[in-house]
Amino acid sequence: MRQIRIFDFVSRYQSHTQAAEKLHMTQPAVSMQMKQLEKNLDIILFERHGKTLSLSTAGIQLRKYSKEILQSYNNMLDFVEKTKGFETGHLVISVATTANHFTTRILAGFSKKYPDITISLDVTNRQHILQQLENYEPDLVIMGEPPKGHGLKSERFMRNPITIIAPPDHPLKNRKKLSIKNLENEKFVIREKGSGTREAVSKHFIESGLVRKTTFEMSSNEAIKHAVSAGFGLGVVSIHTIELELLNNHLIKLDVKGFPLLRHWHLVTRKGKAMSPVAEAFRNFLLEEAKNYEYFK
Ligand code: PGA
Repeated sequence: MRQIRIFDFVSRYQSHTQAAEKLHMTQPAVSMQMKQLEKNLDIILFERHGKTLSLSTAGIQLRKYSKEILQSYNNMLDFVEKTKGFETGHLVISVATTANHFTTRILAGFSKKYPDITISLDVTNRQHILQQLENYEPDLVIMGEPPKGHGLKSERFMRNPITIIAPPDHPLKNRKKLSIKNLENEKFVIREKGSGTREAVSKHFIESGLVRKTTFEMSSNEAIKHAVSAGFGLGVVSIHTIELELLNNHLIKLDVKGFPLLRHWHLVTRKGKAMSPVAEAFRNFLLEEAKNYEYFK
């Protein structure tokens, strides 16, 4: 199983170094395990050209089987956990960068209730989350609108209003019902490619005819907030990320027609991956707790 798992990572990244990083192993250990797997099976799995690595024809076939084996193995582990009850066990969860603001607090409450459950939380953008789902990695995912037809199961559970933020002394601060046209000369600080927020906002701006001036692209909401308050431009972020700044008056929301732009948070799992009792317990906890984080009551 260990060699199959390592093979899965090496074949996914086509690199011993990257697989080693992800598996918290050394590169020579990964390389040795792959040589041993080839020896055990008496088959060539990789073609090595200098420093680059690619799957051989047999390797490509084997990758299909290794994915199926890993999925069955994970289902078996989930079954074992089920027989033990969910008060111990491990939860693997991935959340969109923006969802981290409320998820961490909900996870803290969950962990208080079930102190023996261990948790791995990965905070990353939409694009990376979709890749993880494709590889059956997380038990659960919290993300924006999931794409249709990717073998995903999703449950919409909370609104995610996206708003335009500015520093408190911005010249447009007291203007009511600004139109998109009023923002034509403003510079924007926006999220990186792959972000769901960016995708939704760009679509909205294109549909409204705004040719946005991007000065800055940033991969974190925290960095955007700092840049906006330092005067680099306007930002467009989820209200979930700015609760504290609004309270302390470090940032303000501009009153722009069409905003807040409404998205929703979804709980997403991969069809065909059995939900462990721990994941099921977290799902129920989240659905209940999320009511406290609804922005519009
Ligand atoms: P993001 O995801 O943090 O990748 O922008 C949020 C969303 O999809 O709404």
